[in-house]
Amino acid sequence: MQRVVVITGANSGIGLSTAKELIKRGDIVYCLSRHKPEDAHIRYVYCDVTNRQTIETALSTIYNTEKHIDVVVNNAGMGISGATEYEPLEDIQKIININLIGVINVCSLALKYLRQTKGCIINIGSLASVFPIPFQSLYSATKAAVLSFSLSLHNEVKPTGVKVSCVLPGDTKTNFTANREKTEIKDDPVYKDRVNNSISRMEKDEQNGMSPQKVADVVCKCIYKKRPPLVVSVGLKNKFLRGLLRIFPTRTMESILYSLYSK
Ligand SMILES: NC(=O)c1ccc[n+]([C@@H]2O[C@H](COP(=O)([O-])OP(=O)(O)OC[C@H]3O[C@@H](n4cnc5c(N)ncnc54)[C@H](OP(=O)(O)O)[C@@H]3O)[C@@H](O)[C@H]2O)c1
Repeated sequence: MQRVVVITGANSGIGLSTAKELIKRGDIVYCLSRHKPEDAHIRYVYCDVTNRQTIETALSTIYNTEKHIDVVVNNAGMGISGATEYEPLEDIQKIININLIGVINVCSLALKYLRQTKGCIINIGSLASVFPIPFQSLYSATKAAVLSFSLSLHNEVKPTGVKVSCVLPGDTKTNFTANREKTEIKDDPVYKDRVNNSISRMEKDEQNGMSPQKVADVVCKCIYKKRPPLVVSVGLKNKFLRGLLRIFPTRTMESILYSLYSK
């Protein structure tokens, strides 16, 4: 029987690469997003992850068609950069709604289907889940919460046989960089140059970053494993960076992040 995989945001970047890879391996893939994917092999149902009704409708449409849902990949996300002091409330709510509440919404509504198949949930966090990046504080906070949520959920659903993993990609070359919203920096001497320097560094790192295929390979590995890892970073460099957290105290790590992204 072909596996049915639901991926939020499978019309772009990491989600799209994952969808293509799974289809190549013989799975049926549905994209839940606000825009239709161009690839005709990816099945599409409209969904805005901040709107529970659209998620419920999308999942029941897929279930009624396929009779089973085996995997859900919570990949949809967005970025906002800028100085927290100047972030308007609507932007704060927007990023929390998409990056965190969106994941919680999809997980809670998909569980009744995944329990039937003893399926799996893959949540896409970020290296920023464990390395809080200055001037990406909202993004980092949502991604840290996604990691924490994934681990709590893993233990909650253990008796049902549903597996939960959180994948932490580092800089990846996708439309994410161009789509990132930038909060206007007022002429504040404390922030102006630092925010600009930080964002250009971030953008350069992302555009020279790994290909989304590399992240897709890790997501696929998790999906096909009987006992997938609870948390997995992508690439040797990022595994090494995560390892540093076990060695160095928080203040040292904060100083490193300051010199990289906050000077
Ligand atoms: N690129 C990186 O460097 C990087 C690093 C670490 C983690 N990540 C994470 O990887 C994930 C994928 O990002 P990407 O790099 O592939 O970026 P991307 O190319 O910009 O893709 C983002 C996807 O999210 C979907 N999306 C956004 N808001 C949505 C909503 N309200 N409802 C449904 N879908 C929504 C978009 O589709 P629609 O606009 O059509 O809805 C799009 O398909 C994100 O969670 C991101 O935080 C990325």
